[in-house]
Amino acid sequence: MCGIVGYIGEKQAYPILIKGLQRLEYRGYDSAGVALLDGGMKLYKRKGKVSELSAYVSDKDTSGTVGIGHTRWATHGVPNDINAHPHSSPSKELVLIHNGIIENYATIKEGLLNRGYQFLSDTDTEVLVFLIEDILKKENCSLEEAVRLALNEVIGAYAIVVMSKNDPKKLVAAKKGSPLVIGIGEDEYFVASDATPIIEHTKNVVYLEDEEFAVIEPGKKLSIRTIKNAEITPYIQELQMELENLEKGGYEHFMLKEINEQPRSIRDSLRGRMDPSTGQIKMAGIDEFEKKFLNAERIIIVGCGTSWHAGLVGEYLIEELARIPVEVEYASEFRYRNPIINENDIVIAISQSGETADTLAAIKLAKSKGATIFGICNVVGSTIARETHAGAYTHAGPEIGVASTKAFTAQVSVLSLIALTLGHKNGTLSESRYRQLLEELDTVPDKVEEVLKTNPQVKGISQLFKDVRNFLYLGRGFNFPVALEGALKLKEISYIHAEGYPAAEMKHGPIALIDEEMPVVVIANKNTSYEKIVSNIQEVKARGGKIIAIITDGDKEVTKLADYTISIPAIDEALSPMITVVPLQLLSYHIAVMRGANVDQPRNLAKSVTVE
Ligand code: AGP
Ligand code: GLU
Repeated sequence: MCGIVGYIGEKQAYPILIKGLQRLEYRGYDSAGVALLDGGMKLYKRKGKVSELSAYVSDKDTSGTVGIGHTRWATHGVPNDINAHPHSSPSKELVLIHNGIIENYATIKEGLLNRGYQFLSDTDTEVLVFLIEDILKKENCSLEEAVRLALNEVIGAYAIVVMSKNDPKKLVAAKKGSPLVIGIGEDEYFVASDATPIIEHTKNVVYLEDEEFAVIEPGKKLSIRTIKNAEITPYIQELQMELENLEKGGYEHFMLKEINEQPRSIRDSLRGRMDPSTGQIKMAGIDEFEKKFLNAERIIIVGCGTSWHAGLVGEYLIEELARIPVEVEYASEFRYRNPIINENDIVIAISQSGETADTLAAIKLAKSKGATIFGICNVVGSTIARETHAGAYTHAGPEIGVASTKAFTAQVSVLSLIALTLGHKNGTLSESRYRQLLEELDTVPDKVEEVLKTNPQVKGISQLFKDVRNFLYLGRGFNFPVALEGALKLKEISYIHAEGYPAAEMKHGPIALIDEEMPVVVIANKNTSYEKIVSNIQEVKARGGKIIAIITDGDKEVTKLADYTISIPAIDEALSPMITVVPLQLLSYHIAVMRGANVDQPRNLAKSVTVE
């Protein structure tokens, strides 16, 4: 949630900050602001998108070689100009940007109110900048010491950057729970929530760890200490990211670009890990904990949203192919329900961003109980990737569209590899079935390429249904999670109410909703419950519902029954979710575009949910 960016050096800060905010906008976009130092302090804040901020600032003075910027996803206080960041201290000497939540802000605020301070905003953030200045004045200490002392009083999550008019050659940054990365240039530093605003300036970065703060001064070495005042030697890493992956590359939206990238992102996630010709799968993270995995009494998969859906596919895969019991949990529930976990458990945490607060908390809980944690993350160096004992990255490349698409198929491709290798190693999977699945897995990228050719047809269907109020998605077995995912995609970007259901459950409730107005998307590719799903289609038809069916090429039976069909190539059912989900992604994309919705930045959402 929310993007923060800072610059200090010899260049003009504003162009760097505004471009950085545009790159970070996927993280939060209800208001934005910048503060610049050039002798005096300049502060510009605006409700709305970064473009509104830059239009507002266009005729203002933006000079200054030091500055900070923020794009907000409100937690405390409505999105408006006043609640937007940066927030100033009472004397206006300090400004601060913040990502996260100061949980004890009310107590701190009360103390400050009692001492006569008056607040302007409703945010938790403003309390922190007031507290820092209060300490600065009382203790007559350095800026970094005031920040350190203040952070010792704070409960909650934060990534912050503080800038001071009286200390213009310095930025102080700190983090706990929310991410922060510092880019090291020549006589200049960058600081941001993730590497996307930094990559075009430098590839050398340092990721701050929880409860660390950095004093950032051009021309001097980066100084990092913990908030308990222990010195830390900065660990400088080289970014692997490429700039072109952060651009739209000719597509109208990131989401469409990312849907179309799937043949490549799946291939990249499989590459180097499997060789169908020799029948080998090599996954360093699994090999390292092979004994643990093979002796595990159960595997628990945790994640949120789309990553949780991928986890559900993982459950079907691992139980079917490796016969190891799997439980899939919403990270947000798992972390608070006192789950029974022991040292023999393996927890697989799935997260595209690697920053989701609930997933991170679930990991910490499971770790504290002795479980082995295996991560499936997309963002290299992200907090979750660093918190896990082992893992496998999905090599999907940066996913910018808030609706997750290529991350899902990459996660499922990695889970397929895990299930196959575990089943092979523990002998539950016959050599021939293992080989056959490995060969089929190798064909998935080409088959996704085929499915992408249905785009014009899916667009046509979208036109017919763009104005409906409800959608139902049905699937069975491996494709039940795909039904959930299809429904999530539609609701999050088009704001049409949609529900995903296991097809057979329909008769236990949702069938009551079906009438001539109700489109029902049925994933009806050839699989073991094909006959059953054909009966489910009949049940919908009998009540006048409109069927949009995803079918296997050449399926005449469902073609006769359904109102509209989208054909996909034949594929083993265990691997089919990576294929069947693609037309559903396209359907939600086109409907959202036709409804005039902001596809890449749907209302109320943010890409990386770093608050609980
Ligand atoms: C999906 O389209 C989402 N916007 C959302 O559900 C997302 O999958 C969820 O917030 C988890 O994010 P993560 O994978 O980065 O942890
Ligand atoms: N809690 C702060 C606010 O509501 C920061 C939210 C964010 O991370 O954008 O302003």
